[in-house]
Amino acid sequence: MASPDSRGTWGSRAGFILAAAGSAVGLGNIWGFPTMVGQGGGAVFVLVYLFCIFCLCLPILIAELALGRRVQRDPVSVFATIAPGTSWWLVGALGVITGGAILAFYCVIAGWTVAYIWFSLSGAVSGDPAEVAAFFARFTASGGMAAALGLGILLVTAGILLGGVQSGIERVTKVLMPALLLLMLMLAARAFTLPGAADGYAYYMRPDLSRLFDPAVFSGALGQAFFSLSLGMGTMMTYGSYLRKSEGIGAAALWVVLLDTSVALLAGFIIFPSGFSIPGFDPSASGPGLIFAVLPQLFATLPGGALFGAAFFLLLAMAAITSTISLLEVPVAHAIDAHGWPRRRAVLVLTGTIFLLALPVALSQGAVPTFTVLPGLGIDFLTLMITIWNNFSLPIGGLLIALFVGYVWKVDQALAELTLHGAWFPAPRLWSLLIRFVCPAAILVIIIAALRPLLGV
Ligand code: TRP
Repeated sequence: MASPDSRGTWGSRAGFILAAAGSAVGLGNIWGFPTMVGQGGGAVFVLVYLFCIFCLCLPILIAELALGRRVQRDPVSVFATIAPGTSWWLVGALGVITGGAILAFYCVIAGWTVAYIWFSLSGAVSGDPAEVAAFFARFTASGGMAAALGLGILLVTAGILLGGVQSGIERVTKVLMPALLLLMLMLAARAFTLPGAADGYAYYMRPDLSRLFDPAVFSGALGQAFFSLSLGMGTMMTYGSYLRKSEGIGAAALWVVLLDTSVALLAGFIIFPSGFSIPGFDPSASGPGLIFAVLPQLFATLPGGALFGAAFFLLLAMAAITSTISLLEVPVAHAIDAHGWPRRRAVLVLTGTIFLLALPVALSQGAVPTFTVLPGLGIDFLTLMITIWNNFSLPIGGLLIALFVGYVWKVDQALAELTLHGAWFPAPRLWSLLIRFVCPAAILVIIIAALRPLLGV
């Protein structure tokens, strides 16, 4: 077992927050969130999403960070150390697998954003709205290109991970995060002035309460919340394992949640006003192409729009890479800590394996638009992956983490870790209540409600 020192720790508290926020902020916020809002019927989805983030995910984020810092090892070892001789290590193993599977589709989408840096500059996506939307469909159907770009993303990720924890992740994120926020604020301000923007705001902020109890909305929002916070599979456990004992977990967790949620909400304030300024825009019909159809229209209204577009997609690709780093780091940390592999071998073998998993995702987009998963349920491959991993695997992981902390490790132990050296941790009783009762019960109900239509019962 490597000592905590040789594994590396974060350079500073700000460094940890930036790195964890770098993991959280990514395609999930800027590509995933608006897409899911579009499919979930607008403001009602936003409402349920915020409930999931603050009531269900924040307590679990705190739990994950505390577990990771307590044991200072990879997720599988975390469970095996606290509950030796039990099957709890399987929760860590589920996380390692989920990390690889999510990365396999994530790198393909990140590859699309790289392509759009070039398409913005070359003017390929500056035509009329219908043509820009059709361009996305044609581009993603050319699977070879998408696969090559996805491989490029994986290789850059692997290269950064070979450099170790601190120098790689912290440095990139420090510059990236403020730049991304600034550009997004500018774009949101521009979108505010577009004709039709008011319809966009109404769609985004005035909930249709009749859909409030739609299980699909809840399941989508919960999956999206877990995904956006990089939660439920040990990423935050792994990052917490590099956190110094002297740093407060409560404050760090709150920062990560506030940053991540602000970026997601801000993305909506860009996409929906811009979208509704396009005649005939239907947010529910666009699917994964939503931001790739809407954003070029927004850039076209800006002087020097090609440059703005290129800069935006470049920052988005970089934000995606600070997330892919954290996805790959989970299986890598596991191979190093639990199997004693050298870092180099772990990175190379796992990158290669994940690329093989990415191939079907890249090649099936567009080429196989729908296929039948269960009788009567035709969904495309990307939606299938998102359903399995985001909507089921992550919440199930989160549920098990809540139960583990609440009933196996026990909240007293967790609270001792959370308040170590007098760290700021408000509302410990509320947190105990949420982690033991509210999180497990609510997540279980949402998972069961989401399963029923799939199983036809
Ligand atoms: N949270 C990232 C995003 O929103 C994606 C991500 C990184 C992730 N690490 C994760 C998702 C771990 C789930 C689990 O883009």
